[in-house]
Amino acid sequence: MNGRLRVPGDKSISHRSIMFAALAEGETTISGFLEGADALATLAAFRRMGVEISGPEAGRVRVRGVGLRGLGAPDGALDMGNSGTSMRLLAGLLAGQSFETTLVGDASLTRRPMRRVSEPLSLMGARIHASAEGTAPLRIEPCGGLRGIDYGMPVASAQVKSSLLLAGLFAEGETCVSEPAPTRDHTERMLTAFGYSVRRHANRVCVTGGGRLSACQLNIPADISSAAFFLVGASIAPGSDLLLEGVGINPTRVGVINILRAMGADIELIDRRLAGGEPVADLRVRHAQLRGIEIPHDQVPLAIDEFPALFIAAACAEGETLLTGAEELRVKESDRIQVMADGLAQLGIEAEPLADGIRIRGGQIGAAGPGGPIDSHGDHRIAMSFAIAALRSQRPIEIRDCANVNTSFPGFAMLAAEAGLGIEERGA
Ligand code: S3P
Repeated sequence: MNGRLRVPGDKSISHRSIMFAALAEGETTISGFLEGADALATLAAFRRMGVEISGPEAGRVRVRGVGLRGLGAPDGALDMGNSGTSMRLLAGLLAGQSFETTLVGDASLTRRPMRRVSEPLSLMGARIHASAEGTAPLRIEPCGGLRGIDYGMPVASAQVKSSLLLAGLFAEGETCVSEPAPTRDHTERMLTAFGYSVRRHANRVCVTGGGRLSACQLNIPADISSAAFFLVGASIAPGSDLLLEGVGINPTRVGVINILRAMGADIELIDRRLAGGEPVADLRVRHAQLRGIEIPHDQVPLAIDEFPALFIAAACAEGETLLTGAEELRVKESDRIQVMADGLAQLGIEAEPLADGIRIRGGQIGAAGPGGPIDSHGDHRIAMSFAIAALRSQRPIEIRDCANVNTSFPGFAMLAAEAGLGIEERGA
C-alpha cells in the first residue's frame, strides 16, 4: 500500500460532538465529522428532539445548542441503527429528561447487552424498561429527577462511563465513575472543551449536575480505528510505504500502534499536534516482517475495536499470537472472536477461539482451507479486516454482507483501492 491519505473522522468523537453541542448554549461548529451511518443516527436523533443542525457537508456541521434543559419530545421512537454508542450514551442523556423516549436499533444492536447501562442508571433513579433479556428497545420514562452515584464499573467500558457522566449532567449532586482499566476519555476531554468541570483522580472521574456547556469549535481527528486497517495493510503488504494524515493518537486509543510495534511493525508518528483537545499525528507505516506475540492485557481496552484487523496481522506473522482477557469482543456488532476464527479457518489459517480471546498461528492466507465467501455477519470491522487480508492472500477473498462498512467508514473501498488494494464492490 502506498501514498498519502486521510481516513474519515473519529466515530466516538463525532457522536459526542453532536450530543454536547446540542446541550450547549450557543452555536457549535464541527469539522471533520464522520458522515457514517452511526454518527448520522445520533445527529438525526437530536434533530428529532428539536435541535437545529445544518450539514453535514464535507464533514462540516453547525449545531444550534438548546442548553441542558432545552430538548423536546420526539414524535416517535429514535432509531439508533447499528450503533451501540448512540444507544448507550443516549440512554444516559435521556434518563434525566422530562419526556418519554424509546430507543430502537437493528437486529445486531437489539441483541447487544444494555443492562450494563440500565442497571447503574436505575441506581440514579432512572426508569428504563428493556426486554426480558436486558436488550433494546429501551423505553425511558421521566423519573422526576436523577441523583448522583459513585459507581465502580465491572467492565472497562467507555460507553458505560460516558452514559453515566451524561446522566450526571442532569443529576443532583456528584456522579462518579471508577474504571477497572483506562478506557477512551473523549467524553471527559470534550466536556472540558465545552467548559464543563470534570474531575479525575486516578481511575475515578466525577461531574456535578446542573452546570452549563458553552458552544465551541471542534476539529475532529481522523479515526485511528479506521486507520487501523491501513496500519495492518501496509505492515503486511511487501513494498508498502503509506502516510495516514491527521490521525487521533489519544493515549486511550493507541493500543493498535503499541501491539503492532510489539509485533515488529514499522510505524512512525510524525508532526504530533493538538486538534480540539485531542492529540493527532501523521502516521507513516512501512512493510515489516511481523512476529506473533502474547498481547498484554493492559492493551486490550486501548485496542478494543482494532482486534479484527490485528487478527489479520497475526495471521501474517511468524509464530503464534495469543489474545486473552477480551471477552468483550463477543458482544460487539458481532461475536468478533467466533466470526474472525471462522473466517480465518476458511482461509486456511489456524485460529482457535477461546472464551475470552483467540490463538492464531501465522501462515499463508488462502493457501488451504475450504474457501468460499466469508460471512461478515453485517459487522463493518470484520468486512474491512478480511478485505485487507486479500493483500497477502493466495486467492481472491469474497466477503458477504458488507453494507455496514458505511456505519464507520464510508468510502473505504475507494480509499483502499487508491492505496493499492485490488477491491471491487458488488451489489453496492
Ligand atoms: C466506544 C467505546 C467502546 C468501543 C465502541 C465505541 C465509545 O465500547 O468498542 O466502538 O465511543 O465510547 P465499550 O465502551 O463498550 O468498550
